[in-house]
Amino acid sequence: MSQFNIAVIPGDGIGTEVIPEGIKALEAAASKHGVELNFTHFDWSCETYHRTGRMMPADGLEQLKQFDSIFLGAVGFPGVPDHISLWGLLLPIRRAFNQYVNLRPVRLFEGLQSPLANKQPGDIDFYVVRENVEGEYSNIGGIQYEGTEDEVVSQQSIFTRKGTDRILKYAFDLAQSRDKKHLSSATKSNGLFHSMPYWDNRVEAMAEHYPDVRVDQFHIDIFTANLVRMPEFYDVIVGSNLFGDILSDLGPACTGTIAIAPSANINPEKDFPSMFEPVHGSAPDIAGQNIANPIGTVWAAAMMMQHLGRQDMHDTIMAAIETVIREQMALTRDMGGTASTQELGQAISDIISA
Ligand code: NAI
Ligand code: MG
Repeated sequence: MSQFNIAVIPGDGIGTEVIPEGIKALEAAASKHGVELNFTHFDWSCETYHRTGRMMPADGLEQLKQFDSIFLGAVGFPGVPDHISLWGLLLPIRRAFNQYVNLRPVRLFEGLQSPLANKQPGDIDFYVVRENVEGEYSNIGGIQYEGTEDEVVSQQSIFTRKGTDRILKYAFDLAQSRDKKHLSSATKSNGLFHSMPYWDNRVEAMAEHYPDVRVDQFHIDIFTANLVRMPEFYDVIVGSNLFGDILSDLGPACTGTIAIAPSANINPEKDFPSMFEPVHGSAPDIAGQNIANPIGTVWAAAMMMQHLGRQDMHDTIMAAIETVIREQMALTRDMGGTASTQELGQAISDIISA
């Protein structure tokens, strides 16, 4: 019997509401497929920060290292500045465990209304492959003459050849494996003088190894417009940390709600645990009301099992998500229903168990 040890970090806000629904789905799928899952819970969060001055203990990464995967809710809550909470928990995990791929599937499900006119299920079906450990998200830089009128701030972007090539390779491999074999790169080489021309050159170099893959590139400004105008055009999108972040909120928004979108922080070499989470954050505006949509978290759980080699569990969980949406079984408000977080979570795990 295969067995996996999962570290669970519900985190903040609705993270603590949606994670239990993800676990329900995992447990139902595990028992169906004869898999044993052991969950270890960590209460690391902004609350921990208020209590201890840290988002996680000093040996937090050491503790996580031994697990097969990390299952995360959301990090960040009013009362702790976002750069403190994110840099105290989420970003160190992504970096220490070399989770350099952030994979975010975007799909329009049957039963969900796209805010874009005349889009049918199947029209929107693409992946955003986001660079996850370098690029624009760096803590290199500083502030000088603070508080004076000569105040000056600099924020450094970092693009390494290794870091750029490995994310491009991952994206090209993914494009190669898909029917459309189409890769679109997000750039801004007309504005950013050094980093994006470099990115474009590496795309061109990588493309030579993938003659079957059709490649194009768009500046990020028109890219966002295109994603709204013609989402059906896209298949695999690759972008730097910042551009990928933006496109991967915009993508799911075009499918009806960002709350169904999952995010896999992957260390492809499997030297370290990978981490799976919904795309959305802690949603302080609805936290504590039990109306958060758990589907992004459940989908992230499915991606986790796929990464761990259990395609069967992935497929079972995805089929249940498709069914609840198609049959409009217990939808939360963001999808036009009235169900609570628990009712939707229960509907999904009931289908899995049936
Ligand atoms: P958010 O994703 O938390 O919320 C954006 C909007 O979407 C809100 O109106 C919220 O109610 C709604 N929403 C989000 N998830 C939902 C769900 N499951 N069901 C129904 N509605 C949902 O983004 P926001 O407000 O920018 O950030 C709030 C906090 O979360 C901040 O501290 C931010 O730094 C953090 N954050 C953390 C992330 C992570 O842990 N990976 C990702 C994004 C934000
Ligand atoms: Mg984001």
